Order: sequence, then structure tokens, then C-alpha cells
Amino acid sequence: MYRTHDNGTLSLEALGQEVVLSGWIQKIRDKGFMIWVDLRDRYGITQLIFDAERTDPKTMELAKKLGREFVIQVRGTVIERESKNPNMPTGDVEILVSELTLLNSALTPPFTIEDQTDGGEDLRMKYRYLDIRRKPVRENLMFRHKVSMAVRNYLSAQNFIEVETPYLIKSTPEGARDFVVPSRMNPGQFYALPQSPQTFKQLLMVGGMDRYFQIVKCFRDEDLRADRQPEFTQIDCEMAFVSQEDVLNAFEGLTRHLLKEIVGVEVGDFPRMTYDQAMERYGNDKPDIRFGMEFGVLNHCAQHRDFGVFNSAELVVGIAVPGGNAYSRKEIDALIDWVKRPQIGAQGMVYCRVAEDGTFKSSVDKFYTPDDLAQWAETTGAKPGDLICVLSGPKDKVRPQLSALRMELAQRLGLRRPDEFAPLWVVDFPLLEWDEETQRYHAMHHPFTSPKPGQMELLETDPSAVKANAYDLVLNGNEIGGGSIRIHDKGIQSKMFDYLGFTPEEAKAQFGFLMDAFQYGAPPHGGIAFGLDRLVAILGGQETIRDFIAFPKNNAGRDVMIDAPAPIDQGQLNELHLSIGLKP
Ligand code: AMO
Repeated sequence: MYRTHDNGTLSLEALGQEVVLSGWIQKIRDKGFMIWVDLRDRYGITQLIFDAERTDPKTMELAKKLGREFVIQVRGTVIERESKNPNMPTGDVEILVSELTLLNSALTPPFTIEDQTDGGEDLRMKYRYLDIRRKPVRENLMFRHKVSMAVRNYLSAQNFIEVETPYLIKSTPEGARDFVVPSRMNPGQFYALPQSPQTFKQLLMVGGMDRYFQIVKCFRDEDLRADRQPEFTQIDCEMAFVSQEDVLNAFEGLTRHLLKEIVGVEVGDFPRMTYDQAMERYGNDKPDIRFGMEFGVLNHCAQHRDFGVFNSAELVVGIAVPGGNAYSRKEIDALIDWVKRPQIGAQGMVYCRVAEDGTFKSSVDKFYTPDDLAQWAETTGAKPGDLICVLSGPKDKVRPQLSALRMELAQRLGLRRPDEFAPLWVVDFPLLEWDEETQRYHAMHHPFTSPKPGQMELLETDPSAVKANAYDLVLNGNEIGGGSIRIHDKGIQSKMFDYLGFTPEEAKAQFGFLMDAFQYGAPPHGGIAFGLDRLVAILGGQETIRDFIAFPKNNAGRDVMIDAPAPIDQGQLNELHLSIGLKP
């Protein structure tokens, strides 16, 4: 038997017991006649003591040869510690070792395997298996497991069935590039890895499965960010015979359950906001509503004076920064530089201080009267002691700029509290989105999303005004899920493909299977997919999903541990009928 107990459980209750423990050596303190060893496993750390007076000389000698991360097994007696450590569950006891077995030795690890490590990100990723021994990483993975289990149990209790769908498929146009896999048996042909199981879950509805879910890997060849990985996991769901209201209720239920179960937070009905409202009030379709700082449109009180910059702008919009009047001139200048960085791209920023006595001092005082500025304050909700920050320009540029500033300031002001949870639904998304590159409309969600009833006709006259039965679930400023009610009528689906620029032949070649299926009795259906990695990170109070993935890719899409992607040999290339034109 390798162990009678794990390293996280022994306490004074076990005093005098003989136990067998196994694990890794985290730390050694060798005082010559006494050696203390911290023995670690997944469950915790237990202190071992080798004492020249009580441990036999052979064992003592072996103990002297131990090193960090050696794997050992010990037999010993639970005794009370002289100096207790109230910060650890096993901190009252130690094990007086009588037998020591070396199970495996270890090289000196390239970084310290403790809660705070000296290892940089790259090094930790290269030796991810060592990183996983660290408590913060291990706890994140265990947390993820807990969330996945809660999701599975909840959905299963709600009559959802988990069905696996294939990974080797044909591309689904979800907006990103596909990862493709060459087929050996079909020369010149490729599978694509799914960006999501979208078409399959719809086919499961045609197949009568009624309520489906799957915790499933998805693959998207897109630029990476803190909240994006090339392979990530969705909680993918679909329901038949449902309206949008039914879907929102079902998954509000799941989210509320998770918030209660996982983080112990009870939330009432989720607020709902239309896409248009979200853009107007927060400049963003995934607003963080844990704090205010809502946009105030200032066109009416900023465009009637001689300030040309504002007069010529489509939108003049500001936010009130709580307590911002305390910023020094230098700090405000730094903020102006911040919004002018290429990543944000603002031309400049006008500001107005609201002093404690309610008087105003702005960077454009020569153009505006105190009455004008009082209107700015009223419109942005600025109070004495605040700072009003104002940007202007075309709507589609200014909104994201001011939104970025709002998020940055909220972060600096500590308003984005990780232990506070503010979910909301953003609904009525536009069906289409103009794509500058291809100079045509694309489906904003995906081409299977149904327009709102009665809006099909608008497609001909005012395509960008058409709203979809599409919704996102937003949590703390992150899109954690998105879905829609689908088209289930072949005629409408073909019209949509036609509208999106597919020729009938292309539509048939890519989606003939779906449209064929629709002819055999497709029920009305709709669903949603959550980003599990994001959901877990946010529930865990963080936003970097990499920390919650056992073996993540780096920002260049590489797995630095296994060194992938990598070239393959000529034989393999030949077998796959591929020739590579890359210069060495
Ligand atoms: P969508 O494309 O909105 O919808 O994806 C659903 C959710 O998946 C998460 N997500 C990601 N997480 C990590 N890395 C990525 N690269 C990444 N891309 C997306 C987000 C997002 O909200 N088939 C539809 C769903 C449906 O209509 O039912 C779909 O995939 O949290």
C-alpha cells in the first residue's frame, strides 16, 4: 500500500497513529540532527520529521540524500508539532518517520513549485506538468472540474441529454478560420475541425433529441487574446419547440444555479438590454454593469458653440469618473495619452472637473459657459468631485474608445470587483454585419439565426436594421455565452444563404445536408453555447482563461511543452498527398 492517508488530512485527532504517506518533497530543512520535510500531494502538505535521536541511522542517512521534488513514501507516527502552523490544515502535527522509501528521484526543478513561484510564464508553460503541482494551478483545474460537474448535473436533471458530435467535419461558417485535417484516404480532400457543433446540434433537433447538451472542444484559427484560445470548450446546448423566452429562462436558470452553487452568490432576474441600448449606454455589446459610469450623449449641449471638433462630430459622448477631480493635471494628461494610443485611437479627450463646491473647470472653458458644463454634468451623472471625460467622432469609433476608457478607469478605481457578479442578457442583435474587407454583409451570429418575425422583408431595403432572435449572456463585461433561435424552414434558410452571397450550388455543397434535413420535419428550435473556459475563469474571479486550462497554447498558438505545431516528415506528407511550398 502506497499510502494510508493523503497529505491534507492528518490532524491532532490522529495523534499516535502509524500512517503511510506518499508524495513529492516541496521543501527540506536540514539542521543536521533533525531534518524537516514538507511532503506534498494534490490534497495538501504534511510535515515530516527525521530526528537523529528517534529515527534509525540508515533512514537518517537516506533522508540526507533527498532533494526537492523527489517522490518518496514514508511510514511514521503522527505526533504533535512543537511550533504549530495555524495556516495549514495539517499544521498541528508532523510525522516522525521510521521508514523511508525513495520512489523516484528528480532533477532540480527549473522554478520553485510553491504558491508564489519565481518561474516566468514561458518557463512554466514549458514545464506545465510541474506548474500543475503548484496549488494555485491545481486549484484552478479542480475548480473547473467542479463547474463542469455542476453543469452536467444541472442540465441532466433538466432532462438534457449529452450527445457527442464528430470532430472531423466540414467547415461551419462561424466567422473564424478553420483548422483543417488532410484526408489520407481521400486525396486532396480535407476535414475541418468544428468551430462549434452548430449544425450537428440542429440535426439532433431534427432527430427528435429535444434537449441536447455537450461539453465539447471547439477549434478556431483566430488571433489570440487573454479570453481566447485556438481550442476551447463550450457548454453547447439546443432545445426544440422553444421560443427565445424559453431558452433565456432555461439558461438563466443554469447560470443562477452555478453562481449559487459555485460562488455562493444569489442573483435575481437577469436584466435584459437590447444591443442598441447596450451600445448607447456602454458603447459595448458586453457591458460590465457592476459599476455605473454610463455614457451621456452630449451632442445637444456641446454642439451649439464655437468648438469645431465637437460641431463636426457625429457623436459627442462623455462619462463621469467618480472622484476623478482628484486627478492631477499630469494624471489627466496621461489619460489623454492613453486614449490616443493606437490601440484605442482617439484623436484627443476633452475633460471637465467638477469641484467639491459644484463649480466646473474644463479644458474647453473658452467655448462653454458654466450652464453648458452643468448640462454635461447632468447628462453624464457627474457629481461634485468627479471628472467628466468626453470623446467625439464617428459613432462606431467613439463608442469603443470611450468604452475602453470606462473599463480602464473602472479597473484602476477598483470597481471591477472579482467577487461581485452582474450577469445580463443582451438581446435583439443585428442579424447582419457589414464587412469592409469583403464589402458585403455577413451573419453577425451565424447564418442559421432567424430574423425577428416580420423582418425578412427589411432585408431588401435596410439590411443593417434587421434584428435577429439572437442573444448573448454577459457576465462582468465578458461574453460568456451566445445563441439564437434558428431558422427551421428550408425556404427561409436558402433565402438567407442567397442573401449572404452563397450561390445555390455553394449553399447546396456546404449545407445541403441541413436543408435536406429541414424537409423531413424540422421542429422550431434554438439554443446557446457558453464558453466554459471563460465562465470558469470569471467565476474564479479572473479573466485569463489560460490559467484554467491544463495545457494551454501561448499567444502564438503554440504548445511550448510538446513543441507543436511542428513539421511532419516527407513520408507522412506523401501519404497525405501534400506538398509544402514553404522556403526553408
Ligand atoms: P459563439 O461563437 O458565440 O457561438 O461561441 C459561444 C461562446 O464560446 C466562447 N468562445 C471562446 N472561448 C474561448 N476561446 C475562443 N476562441 C472562443 N470563441 C468563443 C464565448 C462565446 O460566447 N454555435 C454558436 C452558439 C449557438 O448559436 O448556440 C457559437 O459557437 O464565451
